This record gives sequence, C-alpha cells and structure tokens, in this order.
Amino acid sequence: MRIGVLGTGQVGRALAAGWARAGHDIVLGSRRPEDTELLTELKDLLDAGVRIGDPAAATAHAEVLVNATPGTASVPLLESIGAPALEGKVLLDVAVGFLEDETLSHPVVSLGEEIQSAFPGTRVVKTLCTVDRVVMVAPQSLEGPSTLFLSGDDATAKETVGGLLHDLGWPEDSLLDLGGIGTARGQEHFALLFNGIALATNTFEFGINLVRPTSTRGRRVA
Ligand SMILES: NC(=O)c1ccc[n+]([C@@H]2O[C@H](COP(=O)([O-])OP(=O)(O)OC[C@H]3O[C@@H](n4cnc5c(N)ncnc54)[C@H](OP(=O)(O)O)[C@@H]3O)[C@@H](O)[C@H]2O)c1
Repeated sequence: MRIGVLGTGQVGRALAAGWARAGHDIVLGSRRPEDTELLTELKDLLDAGVRIGDPAAATAHAEVLVNATPGTASVPLLESIGAPALEGKVLLDVAVGFLEDETLSHPVVSLGEEIQSAFPGTRVVKTLCTVDRVVMVAPQSLEGPSTLFLSGDDATAKETVGGLLHDLGWPEDSLLDLGGIGTARGQEHFALLFNGIALATNTFEFGINLVRPTSTRGRRVA
C-alpha cells in the first residue's frame, strides 16, 4: 500500500521502518526534506527504500496518510497541505497534543475530532497513541497480549487501518473498535495515565490488555 508519513520524529521513523519491512511503499513528509543532517539520520530507512519529500508530496503519494507530528502542530500542518489534497484520504492519526507543562492541548474535544471536523472529506482513524513507538511496531516484544484501540467514523477506513496494524504485528483479536471519532478522547486522555504508568514502572515499553468477565452474564452496557 502507498503510505505517507507526516513527521520524521521517533514515531514517523518507527512506523516507516515497520511498514517498509512489511513491503509497503512509504514516503516520509518532512518540513526539511533536503536537510543533510536529517538525511544522514534517515540513511537506514532510505536504504530500505523509504523515500522523503515535503508534506504535500507525502500526501499526494498516500492511500493512507499518517499524522506523526506534535498534536499542537498537526492542524496547522494539515491546513498548509490543504483540504483538497486530503480529500478522500484515510488519515491514521497517532498524535497527542502536549503543552509545555505536560497537560493536554485538547483537554475537552480530542485532536482526532478537531482534525475530522476541519477536514470533513478526510477519513480520520485514531489509533496507536496508547503505546510507545517501540511497542507500536513490535507488540510481540511484550510478555503477553495487548489491546489496541481504533476510533473513527468510517468503517472501511478502520478496516484499512486494521490491516496496516496487522502488518506491524498486531493480531486481529488485539484490536478494539471503540466507535466513532468522538471516542478518540479516551485514547488521547490515556496519555496521562500512560505517563503515570511509565514513571511508576520505569519503562515506556508496556501494553494494556482488556480483560473480560469469565461469565457471559456480566452486566450489559446496553
Ligand atoms: N514517541 C512515542 O512513543 C509516542 C507514542 C504515542 C503517541 N505519540 C505521538 O505521536 C506524535 C509524534 O511523536 P514523536 O515522538 O515522533 O515526536 P517527535 O520526535 O517530536 O517528531 C515529530 C515530528 O513532526 C514533524 N513536525 C511537523 N510540524 C512540526 C512542528 N511545528 N514542530 C515540531 N515538529 C513538527 C517533525 O518532522 P520534520 O522536521 O521532518 O517535519 C518532527 O520530527 C506526537 O503527537 C506524540 O504525542 C508519540
């Protein structure tokens, strides 16, 4: 599949490497695609066949576009690309917005919802933001199963993203579809608990696993 990845930071690099290993065709979208220092840092990825361009080039290439930019910068960056170029694309949104004091930049309505509302013709799927970049592409490195969440309004887009998660090593039964993009709030707010668990356990590399009741007679929500 043709994947564009916005952002060449830790997450963008990890995901590009993971999907390149799985045989996907990747273009990284950077604000500085000709920066020689950046190109040196990305040498292994470029040697593996990943290409680099500006954000518009990565978007034009993408069947699935990945937002791996700081959550505080995501909407302005997408606006600079423009709604027409994003029309119809699946946007896999990994981003969480943090302010300098480590509080969320989107404490009420999630970034995922803000992007969906700003770009109604784009099919936003929020996922992967509840795990660290190492675990994102190596869920098998954990000692047991881990649950990954999906939020988005478009069922086909979530299916496409589910396939890409599978290619990173996430088994089908590890994926939990939470529902519409409004449920991205829970995923983004988990970042606060994530940081607490990381501090308490002294590692970023952990997963969370949904444990269901043993009895099918458990209380129903609806
Ligand atoms: N790190 C994790 O394990 C993790 C886990 C879950 C979720 N997330 C979320 O995933 C997103 C990416 O995280 P990351 O750790 O990869 O961040 P990062 O290392 O800071 O990389 C972000 C990249 O975004 C690009 N970018 C575009 N506009 C930018 C701007 N105005 N300011 C700064 N960078 C800008 C930059 O690439 P160019 O310079 O090439 O344009 C930058 O390298 C964040 O929203 C983060 O909250 C991260």
